[in-house]
Amino acid sequence: MNMLPNEAMSFIENLAPKVKEGHKEVILCVPYIDLFYSLLAAQQTNIKIGAQNMHFEDKGAYTGEISGEMLEAIRVEYVIIGHSERRQYFNETDESVNKKIKSALNHNLKPIVCVGETLEQKEMGKAEEIITNQVKKALDGLEPKSLEKVIIAYEPIWAIGTGKTATKEDANNSIKAIRKEIEKNYGENVAENIIILYGGSVNKDNAKELFNMSDIDGGLVGGASLKLDDFEKIINY
Ligand code: PGA
Repeated sequence: MNMLPNEAMSFIENLAPKVKEGHKEVILCVPYIDLFYSLLAAQQTNIKIGAQNMHFEDKGAYTGEISGEMLEAIRVEYVIIGHSERRQYFNETDESVNKKIKSALNHNLKPIVCVGETLEQKEMGKAEEIITNQVKKALDGLEPKSLEKVIIAYEPIWAIGTGKTATKEDANNSIKAIRKEIEKNYGENVAENIIILYGGSVNKDNAKELFNMSDIDGGLVGGASLKLDDFEKIINY
């Protein structure tokens, strides 16, 4: 819940010249109210726009909700699904995450699916079990072909907004475990090619070492993405 429409627009106008063609993919996932303005500001730039959530139904009596069909209608390309804050504060479950992913894909949206363990689960040695289970349930019933359009973000909950980052080795190992889980159901090729991001206190100083790890394909950046200079350093590490 950051940035008003005019702030989002000027952020994109300032960021756009720094995101060159052929650059690694830069996707800004903004609040609903900023989507239309952000899409306008991002026209003819290399920046892509995503939403931060959606409902799994297309339409109906769900006052206050926004559907995949609605996002598609204004040409949003990506949508975050199952962010830990949605799971924690808004009753998002593995089942609703699964329904939302299917609806997103039906509406040509690329879902960015978040999974991650709590500190308690990590301390009990259950992190791997928790995250692989979340991935399994999130992707349940999807065709291998649809996985080309899915991005996964491994975000340990204790690392989000806390300034605590997973060590690069731990983050890499968790992501390896996610790939193994995907391999079980979809084969080696899909598991190798699916994009898996690390998120949780990524900043200008740690981005390089995280992104250089074998299995980490990029970052889901929260706080540090709000500061243009920091974000520029992260995308151009
Ligand atoms: P952070 O947020 O980078 O501020 O930890 C990550 C997120 O919101 O997913």
